[in-house]
Amino acid sequence: MNGAKDIGGSDATGGKAAPWRAVVLTIFPDMFPGCLGQSLVGKALADGVWSLDAIDIRDYARDRHRSVDDVPFGGGPGMVMKPDVVDAALEAALAKAPAGAPALYLSPRGARFDQARARALAASPGVTLLCGRFEGVDQRVLDKRGIGELSIGDFVLSGGEPAAACVLDACVRLLPGVLGASDSLGEESFEDGLLEYPHYTRPASWDGRDVPAVLTSGHHANIKAWRRAQAEKITAERRPDLWAKRAAPTRH
Ligand SMILES: C[S@@+](CC[C@H](N)C(=O)[O-])C[C@H]1O[C@@H](n2cnc3c(N)ncnc32)[C@H](O)[C@@H]1O
Repeated sequence: MNGAKDIGGSDATGGKAAPWRAVVLTIFPDMFPGCLGQSLVGKALADGVWSLDAIDIRDYARDRHRSVDDVPFGGGPGMVMKPDVVDAALEAALAKAPAGAPALYLSPRGARFDQARARALAASPGVTLLCGRFEGVDQRVLDKRGIGELSIGDFVLSGGEPAAACVLDACVRLLPGVLGASDSLGEESFEDGLLEYPHYTRPASWDGRDVPAVLTSGHHANIKAWRRAQAEKITAERRPDLWAKRAAPTRH
């Protein structure tokens, strides 16, 4: 049985550049596209800027119960995803993925996902993401396939699907044409090793609080300097790790 749920985008380009291809392996294919079908990222999916295939790992089970997990060798709590089943699903996924697209297992043990990794993945032809459930995947299938591991943070989710959605959202919004011309990627958090400055909109006075006067001054150089100083202050206060990483911080 073919376990792919072709969610969209792949045939909608009408001769334009090939879409960025995401292939997700999951035992819950109905979780996709989920939030990825909404807003800018959802529009990009509908427009064929990217495509999404959700492969149901359970379709590659070999018994009549469609089992994907078994008890851990060595004892202990929980269940482990079976190597033969995951491997067969991976075989199908890798056949769909474009050459050069990395395959990654979402895991709390993985390298930490960040904006630099999002940029690198967005610059590749796509990505294949394996979503774990239970206690995770039998190590042998990861070793056999040489699959890297990617974590979205130091906490434990009940499954890899929400992590896959985070990774895909962060990548897709970086693809050419996904954000409107008015959205500046360059000034966002992490783009310059800094968190972003605070934002304000109308009314200029609300609930007894005024926006900082410099923002209504019309003086563009002063506004730019104020925003830069705010970004540096917030980064130094909230993320000393990011602040320390900056090669030559400009101090005001
Ligand atoms: C309950 S977790 C397994 C946790 C694992 N036993 C451990 O202690 O590291 C089930 C699945 O959720 C996913 N997951 C959980 N936390 C994650 C995180 N921080 N980043 C990426 N994936 C995560 C992984 O795919 C994992 O296999």
